[in-house]
Amino acid sequence: KSAIAIAIDGPAAAGKSTVAKIVAEKLSYIYIDTGAMYRALTLKAIENKLDLDNEEPLIELLTNTTIELEQSENGQLVLVNSIDVTAEIRSQSVTNSVSYVAKHPRIRKEMVKRQQILADKRGVVMDGRDIGTHVLPDAEVKIFLIATVEERAKRRYEENTKKGFHSNLEKLKEEIEQRDLLDSQRETAPLIKATDAIEIDTTSLSIQDVAQLILKEVASTR
Ligand code: C5P
Repeated sequence: KSAIAIAIDGPAAAGKSTVAKIVAEKLSYIYIDTGAMYRALTLKAIENKLDLDNEEPLIELLTNTTIELEQSENGQLVLVNSIDVTAEIRSQSVTNSVSYVAKHPRIRKEMVKRQQILADKRGVVMDGRDIGTHVLPDAEVKIFLIATVEERAKRRYEENTKKGFHSNLEKLKEEIEQRDLLDSQRETAPLIKATDAIEIDTTSLSIQDVAQLILKEVASTR
């Protein structure tokens, strides 16, 4: 069986990464979290106190920044200039700023270039917002995951509780809605379902159900 590329897109907190990891594991494929790359740059930009609306300094920062996604026993590690930032890139400040960094056309162009190199050999499950539309337009399987914003906020809330910190459900919902709005309305490569993507509404599905649906799609392409 020859290796293919699987693109998983969708709004924030729709379960993309959880499902992508399961699918990648089952197929012995590489999982590539493109959101982590935008988050990594955003973390550096905040540390450097850059104006997130100004593209030029962000481009310069990205040019001087290596971002590596490394598979380890404890899951995927994100390294920026060889420093482990796996936990830091999930912080509130990064989450609420990343869409401002990700809207710049030249930042996206460079990220897409790096992502295409990572997916060069196929055998990849890649998740993000523009994978099916721009990064891997010729992916053999394209999935667009959606769920109601209430359900997505609830899942994020429970995830946070499990990690040991309390969050405000209503605030989470607002933040998710705001990020989706910014990601959907930007001019360059907005969040949109590719015409040839399969939409899966995960609102009342389990993670395993969703993974099974995707694996069935994969089986039917080969
Ligand atoms: O997937 P995650 O929620 O970690 O993505 C963080 C942010 O990175 C998104 O809200 C979006 O602004 C940006 N992003 C993007 N294109 C991608 C992946 C993520 O613009 N392919």
